[in-house]
Amino acid sequence: MSEALIQKDYINKAKAYVKEYELLIGHKPSACVTTFGCQMNARDSEKLSGILLETGFDVVEDENADFVIYNTCTVRDNANQRVYGRLGNLHAMKKKNKNKKIALCGCMMQEPSVIEKIKESYSFVDLIFGTHNIFKFAELLCRMFESKGMIIDIWKDTDMIVEDLPVDRKFKFKSGINIMFGCNNFCSYCIVPYVRGRERSRNSIEIISEIKNLVDDGVKEIMLLGQNVNSYGKNLEEDITFAKLLEEVEKIEGLERIRFMTSHPKDLSDELIDVMKKSKKICKHLHLPLQSGSTRILEKMNRRYTKEQYVDLALKIRKEIPDIAITTDIIVGFPGETNEDVDETIDVVKTVKFDNAFTFIYSKRTGTPAAAMENQVDENTVKYNFDRLLAVVQETARESVSKYEGMEMDALVEEINEHDSDYVTGRLSNNTIVHFKGDESLIGNIVKVKLTKCQGFYYLGEQCLKN
Ligand code: 5AD
Ligand code: SF4
Repeated sequence: MSEALIQKDYINKAKAYVKEYELLIGHKPSACVTTFGCQMNARDSEKLSGILLETGFDVVEDENADFVIYNTCTVRDNANQRVYGRLGNLHAMKKKNKNKKIALCGCMMQEPSVIEKIKESYSFVDLIFGTHNIFKFAELLCRMFESKGMIIDIWKDTDMIVEDLPVDRKFKFKSGINIMFGCNNFCSYCIVPYVRGRERSRNSIEIISEIKNLVDDGVKEIMLLGQNVNSYGKNLEEDITFAKLLEEVEKIEGLERIRFMTSHPKDLSDELIDVMKKSKKICKHLHLPLQSGSTRILEKMNRRYTKEQYVDLALKIRKEIPDIAITTDIIVGFPGETNEDVDETIDVVKTVKFDNAFTFIYSKRTGTPAAAMENQVDENTVKYNFDRLLAVVQETARESVSKYEGMEMDALVEEINEHDSDYVTGRLSNNTIVHFKGDESLIGNIVKVKLTKCQGFYYLGEQCLKN
């Protein structure tokens, strides 16, 4: 029997346990999945919610729920600290409601030191699992209901890819889809290869079939997800590259927009630029993490490109696809980084003129090569460099984003504006957000919007109404 069928049996078994739980607490149980971290985790949370719905929970966005699951991230230490802080709140809730259940999963759980700490100081947690066995959630739910103590099930690695389990999408009209799992790059600061395992690509046939089903179900925009999408296909028997996969996805009728995340500069091919240039569906956005503009630091980071190679690549992309937005990630304070190294980074920001850059303070991750490096940078130097980098990022981003002021562009309407319910929020092909007057009926539609005013990273606009 396939693993998916085994898990479907467990879903049926879990239904009975959820019914029992309902009798115990006197109402239909609610469950809340809180996501920390990246798009991969967001997609995993949709899978968890899918199983929760299927087994009989109401899925809510409120941690007063009967069952709370934290899908954690460990890429930087502040993500871990937030989880510990919020677990304190959950403990207080559980003291008032003894039947409340708490589960932890995701990247942080793949670290043995975290598990030790939770066993010691957070013994009220009911279930802990990791990134590799998330497909077993229904089975783990059964075990949680069958036992009294804390259930811990962490796998070190896996080569399994389990398809066809239920998914509860957050948005009807857009969806992420995993095309690969794990990472083999071992950038020296990064914990991802240790917690997400080795790189594994999914078969293109499975990917295309999943996207077709999503489109039949109302999806207009998909985001192909992987830690390093440019090396898609390398471990597969079929002869396929990421660019070829994109060409296949492009052919899917009814699909309107294609995005992808994340690209590694060292693997970005001319073939990909060519496919993006010709495509009618691939969005005009590329997220291309720089990390540092100093060749000396890039080498210590094990990024496998130089400052010049990055700049040449980014400028080539801008030349070939002039209306593309390029965004990036930058780390400040990597061991041994000097003010001169940060000058180099600032030089790249000024040259490439990123449309947005996510700037992070270096966080020491136990077990990574960088954690053992000498010359960890002192806090004041990091703060000084972070602030001056951010000032340049804001200046160049405004310059790049504002280029389109006054123009009309298509926006996919995503939601009612958070601050003013007379407005909706849409996303342009280049990933820039635009707020404009509109109502719920627009959600999920692609509409023409005049970009009236650039507000730095986003626009205020007006819908162009047809005569
Ligand atoms: N410290 C700070 N930032 C990090 N990132 C990854 N690891 C670390 C770390 N140890 C950043 C990188 C990556 C993004 C997702 O997180 O910039 O691109
Ligand atoms: Fe981490 Fe580098 Fe892999 Fe990105 S490419 S997940 S930064 S190791």
